[in-house]
Amino acid sequence: MTSRLISFEGIDGSGKSTQIDLLSAWLTERNIEFVIVREPGGTSISERIRDILLDKQNLFFSGESESFLFLSARAQLVSEVIRPALESGKFVICDRFIDSTLAYQGYGRGMDLSQLEAMNNMAIGGCVPGQTFLLDVDIENSIQRRSGNEDDRMESAGVKFLSKVREGYIQLSTQFSNRINLLDSTEVKSSIFNKITTQLCRVYGDLNV
Ligand code: TYD
Repeated sequence: MTSRLISFEGIDGSGKSTQIDLLSAWLTERNIEFVIVREPGGTSISERIRDILLDKQNLFFSGESESFLFLSARAQLVSEVIRPALESGKFVICDRFIDSTLAYQGYGRGMDLSQLEAMNNMAIGGCVPGQTFLLDVDIENSIQRRSGNEDDRMESAGVKFLSKVREGYIQLSTQFSNRINLLDSTEVKSSIFNKITTQLCRVYGDLNV
């Protein structure tokens, strides 16, 4: 059976939250049990790690240290929330998961991809997403959509970094094409959402009601 773990990925300002909100309402209407988590965060330990990771005062983060902290937050979230929810038959909707690390720390920061994959595997212990929706947006749109919100440490990393992350995500969608669905985030919200629910109904027969 396909894992009921569903992740949403994309660069900042790609519209993940909007689609997650729509999905949450859609699942509620169908009386389907689910939990929503965001990364980094979702447990009290992981939220504290999040504060360290996104704090703009932490100027001299090494790539290794940053990676370990993202992975540590993930390991805690999996053992405390995600695995128990999956074991009880619930859907789990993740706002970012393993692919964020590969895209941001791997393609963005240049950390070794196979090492990051091994670290991901250790953190998730088999909880691989059944489906991933990658909302692709160009850098200009991403920056425009974000304007008005103050940048956190990751968002301050600059346009060049963000371009590498975006390209990385696109490569990942080719590499893991059986799991990652690439969606154009400049399309109207309702049509993106239609694609998401069509795919979910195709993969999870019990949603098809
Ligand atoms: P957040 O405010 O949650 O961003 P968004 O609303 O765009 O999801 O901040 C999370 C930031 O951390 C975001 O810039 C992406 C980054 N990130 C990584 O670099 N690696 C990771 O493994 C994860 C989960 C997030």
